[in-house]
Amino acid sequence: MPLVTSTEMFKKAYSGGYAIGAFNVNNMETIQGIVEAGKECNSPLILQVSAGARKYANPVYLKHLIQAAVETTGLPIVMHLDHGADFEACKSAIDDGFTSVMIDASHHSFQENIEITKKVVAYAHDRGVVVEAELGQLAGIEDAVNVKAEDACFTQPDEVFEFTQKTGCDSLAIAIGTSHGAYKFKPGQKPRLRFDILEEVGKRLPGFPIVLHGASSVPQDRVAIINQFGGKMPDAIGIPEEMLRKAASMAVCKINIDSDLRVACTAAIRKHFAEHPDHFDPRQYLGDARAAVKEIVKHKIIDVLGSNDKA
Ligand code: G3H
Ligand code: 13P
Ligand code: ZN
Repeated sequence: MPLVTSTEMFKKAYSGGYAIGAFNVNNMETIQGIVEAGKECNSPLILQVSAGARKYANPVYLKHLIQAAVETTGLPIVMHLDHGADFEACKSAIDDGFTSVMIDASHHSFQENIEITKKVVAYAHDRGVVVEAELGQLAGIEDAVNVKAEDACFTQPDEVFEFTQKTGCDSLAIAIGTSHGAYKFKPGQKPRLRFDILEEVGKRLPGFPIVLHGASSVPQDRVAIINQFGGKMPDAIGIPEEMLRKAASMAVCKINIDSDLRVACTAAIRKHFAEHPDHFDPRQYLGDARAAVKEIVKHKIIDVLGSNDKA
């Protein structure tokens, strides 16, 4: 099976009350860990590539690694551009064979966001590619996205109908309290998501796939391993998994997970070196990192997303 778009995946996920995992990929071992988990769980997958990933690994390498994932698993896999900054970034990914792109124009005014998204949608749809857009802003930091907590704002349900009608986008990322990175809530702060906003959005856009960014749970057992073996990640905390399960049973069809993979890799590598100080073959410690990614992705698919046996 060649690369697919997310259209069919989202239709089934919406009606089935589950979500598809969108995992960020930067290197071979992470891709292998994700797709081995997907294969064992018979789950559809979205492999997503950020601007930082393209810069790190070289877009040609990533494209061929993802192609290898498709060929070796036979799973329905979407190759998605994560956080496309502008029309040019989306165009370049579309021209390069991506089957899905995100245009992240949420920091512009509502009208500008509509204009930019509309232009990407026109280019993408002419080429059979689907588009994720965003309304509202998440807090958090990645290479290309840096939004201070005070600048983050929740999605306004009043805007979603007009926005999706005018842009023709295929899915919509909304801000309900998730955030990027491994430090999502302050120590002592009770994790909270605005399910009332999600519910309102669902009412205004029946059947329309909603996306959650910044949805890592930052597993505390892995954070403890990192801190035990020389790391320093005090107060790293994520979104409770039961909240993600609830979101997946509502209108959320795509859940973005990156930080959890990073935490799993780092914990595995730190532990490996602590236990085997004599090792210097990267296959030994990167092999552990790959196995850790596989384990966490299997857990997500089965216990959080519910996308197992849906390929
Ligand atoms: O939300 C974006 C992802 O976590 C990607 O992060 O820009 O560091 O590759 P990155
Ligand atoms: P996390 O940092 O919570 O993994 O979010 C990743 C993300 O939203 C990628 O777009
Ligand atoms: Zn994101």
